[in-house]
Amino acid sequence: MESVKKMRVLSGIQPSGTLHLGNYFGMMSRMVRYQSENDLFCFIANYHAQTTIPTAQTLSENTFNATCDFLALGIDPEISTFWVQSDVPQVTELMWILSSLTSVGSLDRATSYKDKIAQGIKPNAGLYSYPILMAADILLFDAELVPVGKDQKQHLEMTRDIATRFNNSFGNTLIIPEPDIEKETQLIPGVDGKKMSKSYDNTIPIFDSEKNIRKKIMTIITDAADINDPKDKETPLFQLYSLFLDKQDQSKLSARYDGSGLRYGDVKKELFQKVMDHFQPFREKRASLISRPKEVRDILRLGAKKANIIAEEVLDRVKSSVGMNYIK
Ligand code: TRP
Repeated sequence: MESVKKMRVLSGIQPSGTLHLGNYFGMMSRMVRYQSENDLFCFIANYHAQTTIPTAQTLSENTFNATCDFLALGIDPEISTFWVQSDVPQVTELMWILSSLTSVGSLDRATSYKDKIAQGIKPNAGLYSYPILMAADILLFDAELVPVGKDQKQHLEMTRDIATRFNNSFGNTLIIPEPDIEKETQLIPGVDGKKMSKSYDNTIPIFDSEKNIRKKIMTIITDAADINDPKDKETPLFQLYSLFLDKQDQSKLSARYDGSGLRYGDVKKELFQKVMDHFQPFREKRASLISRPKEVRDILRLGAKKANIIAEEVLDRVKSSVGMNYIK
């Protein structure tokens, strides 16, 4: 039988502290799905996280915790290539080479940069060059498909522009990646009904204490409909609960919303139970990883080694193209 060439799928995730339902249903479950049929490259973007200047301790703890999160949720370091960005530092060299092909105008137009400044983050040069580093992340591994959230769409376009400009200037060298943007329907609402996001402080964490998870679920906004009225289903409580139900149970929930006698408080308690049940095996696996930091570091060492092989290959190609491999 002819073997089908696997697609190289790559994505990076900033180690931001606590993983929440939005990350899980938006990104993580997609990655794990990709992993079984494709050549998945997945890394923890700690250079990117550094642009908001966390303390050394926070950055290092968040990186370790994010590693345990992803492994617990199903990233398999045997099948996939899973590493921490700064363990393959060639990406910063490629970033420098790509910098000269990036127009300042395009960086000025980056909405993600403008948003961060508006939030009060200091406009340092790292934050400004963030999209060039992201382009280097993607291009250094010959990624063909890049699953990201909608907020990263512009960064992907910049990556494609930079790669195209490179190829036009220096000959065909870089793979132009295709974005795989999460669909509107996959938007996970937060407890206030806006997109679930750490920056809105509306998340439901998945690896927090039971008490905190319950507390968060209880704050999901609901309306003042009378107990005997039919209830609105375009609401965060209904949508969040539905994520945990199969088609049949979704119809049952829908019928309860259409009928009378439904109490939001009961639905919240059920949702809490669903969340705990669903994540129980992941929580156990995570706890076990956290207690074996040496093994976790070994996994990352192996990932860095695998990623390094591809990085070296591509960087060599790039340096030859631009005229920098003269001693080889
Ligand atoms: N900027 C991405 C985010 O905040 C994270 C990221 C960094 C990334 N490098 C990447 C995503 C490369 C995809 C590919 O979500």
